[in-house]
Amino acid sequence: MIQLPYVEPIFRPPSEAYSLILQVTNGCSWNNCTFCEMYTQPQKRFRFKPIEDLEKELAEIASEGPPVRRIFLADGDAMTLSYRRLKLIMQAINHYLPDVQRVSSYCLPRNLKNKTVAELAELNAMGLSLFYVGCESGDNLVLERVNKGENFESSLVALQKIKAAGAKSSVMILNGMGGKKYSEQHAVNSARLMSEAQPEYLSTLVVSFPTGVKRYQQGFGGEFEALDQAGLFQEMYWLLDNLDLENTIFRSDHASNYLVLKGNLGRDKPRLLQTVRAALDNPGSVRLRQEWMRGL
Ligand SMILES: C[S@@+](CC[C@H](N)C(=O)[O-])C[C@H]1O[C@@H](n2cnc3c(N)ncnc32)[C@H](O)[C@@H]1O
Ligand code: SF4
Repeated sequence: MIQLPYVEPIFRPPSEAYSLILQVTNGCSWNNCTFCEMYTQPQKRFRFKPIEDLEKELAEIASEGPPVRRIFLADGDAMTLSYRRLKLIMQAINHYLPDVQRVSSYCLPRNLKNKTVAELAELNAMGLSLFYVGCESGDNLVLERVNKGENFESSLVALQKIKAAGAKSSVMILNGMGGKKYSEQHAVNSARLMSEAQPEYLSTLVVSFPTGVKRYQQGFGGEFEALDQAGLFQEMYWLLDNLDLENTIFRSDHASNYLVLKGNLGRDKPRLLQTVRAALDNPGSVRLRQEWMRGL
């Protein structure tokens, strides 16, 4: 069994559970979102791994392991690496692991600012074809409150760039992120962003505060009031209702959600809305995840 030299903790999207996790960077280059504690421990200070080290890891995997089909490039925003470095990584992956069919990465909109569509298309042709983008919201005020460092426009430009390059995007939106006061505008503007961008995948998670709400609350000037279960469902209703998607795989099944929703949007929009309506009007009629089963 090969032991890769991971700097823990490592996070990956649920859909990458069976992928090889290749840690090409450590931590997150931004690391300032007030809700995110994922890379705040001292050993997670941002840095990238030299290509020679990655080559050694890939050679070891190639010599010992079964064929690798999917790779996730960790950590928090591996797409911050330059086009040149990403190309070297993809060349090395294709050299050592020729069976790889898909390489994916977390990606902040600003990671793509200095990359052209032609460069992204070249990386896509080499297999780097799926980007998980934590838009979190399409509402500029909420994005500012949580210090995401992005806005509606920057998020849209990045998602359009990914599409133009022939790659796919999987967007995360955070349910409950604006609290009571901004719930409706967060939902409506997030739906507007998604409708304009038409991502291939969309998932929602419920914002949670495992180490306390203090830092988050500061961004809201003390006026953040967390949504209760009914508030989260109402926000989900607003989001779904305002979405105008043609062919997006929608998942609200992350462990942080009370209500599990899955489907294709637009096709399944009426069914999903009906489920959320039932959860709102008659909570006993739908299966909800119990509090003790929820997590990040
Ligand atoms: C490991 S982060 C990396 C994402 C990437 N850096 C970005 O911002 O696009 C993956 C996602 O976890 C989610 N996340 C982080 N902290 C969270 C929290 N406290 N509650 C719920 N979801 C959270 C956010 O949706 C975030 O985009
Ligand atoms: S959400 Fe993404 S960009 Fe924000 S701090 Fe966490 S990993 Fe970094």
